Amino acid sequence: MQTINSLSALRAATRAIKAADKSLALVPTMGALHAGHLELVEEAKRRADAVAVSIFVNPTQFGPNEDLDAYPRMLEEDSAKLRAAGVDLLWAPSVSEVYPEGFATKIHVAGPSSGYCGGARPGHFEGVALVVTKLFNQVEPDLACFGEKDFQQLAVIRQFVRDLDINVEIVGVPIVRDSDGLALSSRNAYLSAQERAAALALPQALQKARDAILAGGQIDRILASATDDVLAAGFSNVDYFALADAQTLQPVTALNGRPTRLLAAAKIGKTRLIDNLAVE
Ligand code: PAJ
Repeated sequence: MQTINSLSALRAATRAIKAADKSLALVPTMGALHAGHLELVEEAKRRADAVAVSIFVNPTQFGPNEDLDAYPRMLEEDSAKLRAAGVDLLWAPSVSEVYPEGFATKIHVAGPSSGYCGGARPGHFEGVALVVTKLFNQVEPDLACFGEKDFQQLAVIRQFVRDLDINVEIVGVPIVRDSDGLALSSRNAYLSAQERAAALALPQALQKARDAILAGGQIDRILASATDDVLAAGFSNVDYFALADAQTLQPVTALNGRPTRLLAAAKIGKTRLIDNLAVE
């Protein structure tokens, strides 16, 4: 595996891959890699001849009072995991390489960015859209893999890729969960043992709500009772517990035959967790 920190070296490496007529997949990450990230790598390997992974804790997607400084950074461990997984290229640029002084461009994606995490984290999806666009222009992959764990992020990325005619195939990968059902997340590392146990209420509330919706229950009542269950389990705050159209993310008040998704974000202690579940 080649580890690359400068854009000029990256261009040389991707040129060599293209000259060998190999297809290239990109897996963008912020590091602190777990089995969810590694599943994206496996999917990328199944779909392309060469795999690049980026590790970049992107400052533009963090709000002023969020965990940018606390976000776990462990490049050496991550690098060993990626080498063992058979990754060809690790793109790990510095902040100044990605955002040199004088950087002045923003990308605002309306539609699927509004509400949910977009409402709770103003500017977050602008930062995601900006860095993912840059990563695509830097690495020039044929396809890129993203997790359904960040379901709204995936919808936002599909939207701007379509809107801006970006020639990268977007592949969504199902959520990887711990054996007890909690979605894997780099932020789970923040949880105390007690919080980790209580956090299970989030996926459990999603499953219960899905079953109740499929059984024909009244959606707003089901969502309110799911919120109550999550709070009763020890979460301090529920940002949202919603049913949305799986593509547009518009709220759904009655099933209409289109794919829908339950989306939830809630805070336990100082940690904000997100999860989602298909209703089908
Ligand atoms: P990060 O949180 O590191 O996640 C990187 C990728 O891993 C995302 O596509 C995310 O959805 C996926 N992922 C995380 N946990 C997962 C799980 N349990 N199962 C399946 N996939 C999972 O998301 C980001 O970084 C950033 O916003 C990024 C896209 C890299 C832009 O900075």
